[in-house]
Amino acid sequence: MLPFMAHGHLIPFLALARLIHQSTNFTITIATTPLNTAYLCSAVSSDPTLSSSQCRLRLATLPFNSSDHDLPPNTENTESLPPNKIITLLHSSAALESPSHRLVADIAAEEGRPPICIISDVFNG
Ligand SMILES: *[C@@H]1O[C@H](CO)[C@@H](O)[C@H](O)[C@H]1NC(C)=O
Ligand SMILES: *[C@@H]1O[C@H](CO)[C@@H](O)[C@H](O)[C@H]1NC(C)=O
Repeated sequence: MLPFMAHGHLIPFLALARLIHQSTNFTITIATTPLNTAYLCSAVSSDPTLSSSQCRLRLATLPFNSSDHDLPPNTENTESLPPNKIITLLHSSAALESPSHRLVADIAAEEGRPPICIISDVFNG
């Protein structure tokens, strides 16, 4: 899963991951930038369904440095940015394309087959 970099997108993706996990037991990987991964990590650890050892939810970190994208340091989601920088954030998400391809290739190598599906977010560049 490739959610957009906003709490209002990360949390629904997590809820969707929970539903898919409960009905399929699939291993689900949610991939996002370092600070958003940290945010998801704290959300997951406070959710008994997702933090149980049975739950095959993985968080993957895609390298991203906001300073490389004309954004203030350490700003990786809409919550940490003024409204006039949101479009810049939208464009910066295109930088996640190569790391996302690498992650899919790594998963394919590890599992012996590519992911069954990729659920992305319409706001990703
Ligand atoms: C889900 O998959 C894991 C790993 O294969 C397994 O240990 C667990 O028992 C499964 N849970 C259910 C409810 O099928
Ligand atoms: C992001 O890039 C800036 C400028 O190159 C650098 O100073 C900073 O240490 C980098 N941040 C991280 C977390 O790597």
